[in-house]
Amino acid sequence: MREIRPLTNHELEDYITIQLNAYPGVRVTREQMRERMARMQADPILSLVGLFDEGELTGVMRLYDFTMQLHGAPLLVGGLGGVAVALDHKKEKVAYEMVQFFLRHYREKEASLTALYPFRADFYKQMGFGYGRKLNQYRFHPHQLPKRGTKAHVGLLSSRDRYAFNACYQRVMARTNGMMENSPAYLDAMFTGDSLRVAGCWDGDELRGYVQFQFEPGRHRSLLSNELVVRALVYEETAVLYDLLAFLRSQADQIESIVLNTHDDDFHLLLTDPRNTGDLIFPTVYQESNIQGTGIMYRLIDVPRFFGLLRDHSFGGQTCRLKVQMADNFLPENAGAWVLDVVDGRAQLLPADTPHDVSLALDVAEFSSLVTGAIGFKTLLNYDLVELSDAACTETIHRLFYTDNKPVCFTSF
Ligand SMILES: CC(C)(COP(=O)(O)OP(=O)(O)OC[C@H]1O[C@@H](n2cnc3c(N)ncnc32)[C@H](O)[C@@H]1OP(=O)(O)O)[C@@H](O)C(=O)NCCC(=O)NCCS
Repeated sequence: MREIRPLTNHELEDYITIQLNAYPGVRVTREQMRERMARMQADPILSLVGLFDEGELTGVMRLYDFTMQLHGAPLLVGGLGGVAVALDHKKEKVAYEMVQFFLRHYREKEASLTALYPFRADFYKQMGFGYGRKLNQYRFHPHQLPKRGTKAHVGLLSSRDRYAFNACYQRVMARTNGMMENSPAYLDAMFTGDSLRVAGCWDGDELRGYVQFQFEPGRHRSLLSNELVVRALVYEETAVLYDLLAFLRSQADQIESIVLNTHDDDFHLLLTDPRNTGDLIFPTVYQESNIQGTGIMYRLIDVPRFFGLLRDHSFGGQTCRLKVQMADNFLPENAGAWVLDVVDGRAQLLPADTPHDVSLALDVAEFSSLVTGAIGFKTLLNYDLVELSDAACTETIHRLFYTDNKPVCFTSF
């Protein structure tokens, strides 16, 4: 018989064994894992859960109670991390049952959405998770940054700045989609770890932006060959961005290259030479400016609740009665049909037999990408990933879900 439940303290060594075997590429020792677990256990938003088969621990995962900002509303979002199955119990549907447990657990907790970072996107796509926004990685020499702004207002932050840091984070979060609230444990970890640094830009005693970074060995692997890897670049106004870039530029003597991870597709506009340090050229004459990766995925788990929580959001100011038929073969109780009645942007869900203007049929994965603003409706239509009853309504539906504020996320889990 199988049972899925939170782990007790004396089961943590077995948890570590499964994790170390599942993620050998994450080069940590058992002792480092123990320290990490101690920090995790102090985090009230996190729980460690395992699947027991006849009493034997065969799979583990981490569940996170996140609060995510989306379309102006703070939503409870279930986060899933560290899914791992014992080497000798793979292909026995352990992960299948754990993901089902995770989704149902958060439905019961009255969340409407879940999120995860996949190690294999196809594995979770099959389970109904939709793609979030892609991340860019630019690699350039500090001298390629613009000579604008001043580092005079920028300084390294320490734990005594955590309140100013979080206040800045929350102001940005309030006007952005996709950011997760920082838990106190997450903030503690940020300022106590050895590797992550944070440089912040001050306006008096208010922090107006920051760059989170770490040093990594450079390509020459020598003592003096270092890269500065930016994990997050967050700013409230353009002048702050230039000040933070001035700080990064001033590291030229020490840094072979800056590796900037950012959701920004247009950062090349700021570089004097937009070429990535790679020398890839493709026809006719296009040169690599950055690389891109898929990452975070979102999944709706309760459609009526989701639209109820967004009752104050304006869906593109549109007026339309749209029937949505959403398939979900992994979590059938989540599938359904509803009429989304939108009047001047305000939406409410009505029963499926309500008269409507147009109907739309799609899978939960694509609907999740659409409602989070990660993918535009026209893209889904163009790729034939949705069925639409009346093409004349394309523009209205596109505007209904469109945001130029595509979701971003700086939280690792
Ligand atoms: C990846 C990993 C978690 C998979 O665990 P697992 O227990 O072997 O996986 P499962 O046996 O539950 O496989 C998932 C099953 O769900 C099935 N499934 C997925 N979506 C489904 C759907 N919508 N409807 C029906 N079945 C579905 C898959 O077909 C698969 O079954 P099959 O093998 O019979 O085809 C495990 O191999 C592991 O720990 N790997 C190392 C760590 C890692 O990579 N973790 C990140 C995971 S992305």
